[in-house]
Amino acid sequence: MTTSATRSASTAPSASTALSATDLFAQVLRYDNRPNPYPYYAQLRRHPVARTDDGSWLVSGHREIGQLLHDPRCSADRLDPLNKTPKEARSLLLQDPPRHDQLRRVVTQEFIPRIMGMRDHLGELVSRLLDARAGDQPGQLDVVADLAYPLPVTVICELLGVPREDEPLFGSLARRLTRGLDPIDTQTEEELRELDQARDELVHYLEGLITRRRADPGDDLLSGLMRHEDPDEVMDPVQLRVTLGLLLIAGHETTVNLIANGTLALLRHPDALARLRTDPDLATTLVEEVLRYDPPVQMSGRSALADIDIAGTTIPKGSRIRLMLAAGNRDPRRFEDPDRFVPDRRDNAHLGFGGGIHYCVGATLARAEAQIALTALVHSLHGPRLVADPPPYRENAILRGPDHLPVAFERLTPRIA
Ligand code: HEM
Repeated sequence: MTTSATRSASTAPSASTALSATDLFAQVLRYDNRPNPYPYYAQLRRHPVARTDDGSWLVSGHREIGQLLHDPRCSADRLDPLNKTPKEARSLLLQDPPRHDQLRRVVTQEFIPRIMGMRDHLGELVSRLLDARAGDQPGQLDVVADLAYPLPVTVICELLGVPREDEPLFGSLARRLTRGLDPIDTQTEEELRELDQARDELVHYLEGLITRRRADPGDDLLSGLMRHEDPDEVMDPVQLRVTLGLLLIAGHETTVNLIANGTLALLRHPDALARLRTDPDLATTLVEEVLRYDPPVQMSGRSALADIDIAGTTIPKGSRIRLMLAAGNRDPRRFEDPDRFVPDRRDNAHLGFGGGIHYCVGATLARAEAQIALTALVHSLHGPRLVADPPPYRENAILRGPDHLPVAFERLTPRIA
């Protein structure tokens, strides 16, 4: 029997081949389909709410995803068999009210004021990274390694007060840990063992960091969060560590994809690239369009706390729900010409940062980083050309983006912020 796992990736879906929701999800997860999962999402949307063979539900319509993101009967507990952390010790991403709201209040109170007025600094960081590669001769840069990764990493480390020299250690941990976000059956025994070990290393690293900061507090975000620490309150020592880990990982593993996916979209749409070069104001709508067209976080999860009637069917209480954000973002019932990259698209209510009470805390920062990085890149690069199209992708299906993005250029001019 041909299973979805053995089916060739070149079996491009067409109107006549009706794959089941289970098969379509398997195709989305297949590494071969990482460069372009969108035809499978399109097929999924024919049944915007569909049950898979393991009893979980795939939600792929824009309206239905939006509805569930705002439905209090949807818990943020993913019922993830890999997550052995007791429920109360999990991060706000996996918590429901009232605990979620208390934690989120503390985080936003410390996070948001620290990112206000950061644009100039972001411009300087981008210039420093690009200037390091500047030259009059034809050359090549890897947009991921040279810009898209180091920018958000430097920013989150600075914000939190993580010593720069710890970054390589933490960076490799973050990469290993995010692999654990993908569904369990896509991972080998070896990978699962590796994941457990990475979790232990993370706890050890974060506890060390907190101990060092406790001895020498500053005005960084970690010191700010520590001020809310109270053994009897919402931010107990374990929760402090978990929140720190969430912010560090979010800062390492998401914005990199936004900048890289944005660069890829620009290089594949030279007219958009030329427009951004002459009109920097385009960056705002352009980054929103990247978040819609090729979102860095492709899907999220929930579970049903009650029977939920939706789209003519019922998701039974206790079910796992997968919200296919990237599929909703290309829903023709919501977006005109959804498969087209339209850099000045209006009415762009994409799901790239989620929605409802868990809407991304880092959205403003991520937007600013991407707007500044992409604008600087198109100004500095002369005669840019993709070296590999599609580029090699990261293993991860949920946090999806290029692993490397080699771009050849004729010249790379320095840029004063
Ligand atoms: C382009 C970059 C980013 C994207 C696409 C992104 C996407 C998302 C999405 C989709 C969610 C909602 C998940 C859900 O509802 O299940 C989320 C939540 C969150 N994000 Fe981001 N994120 C990005 C960058 C960041 C950054 C830089 C930070 C902070 C350093 C951050 C911190 C958070 C936090 C703390 C939450 C949980 C909020 C809550 O549960 O209330 N994100 N993000």
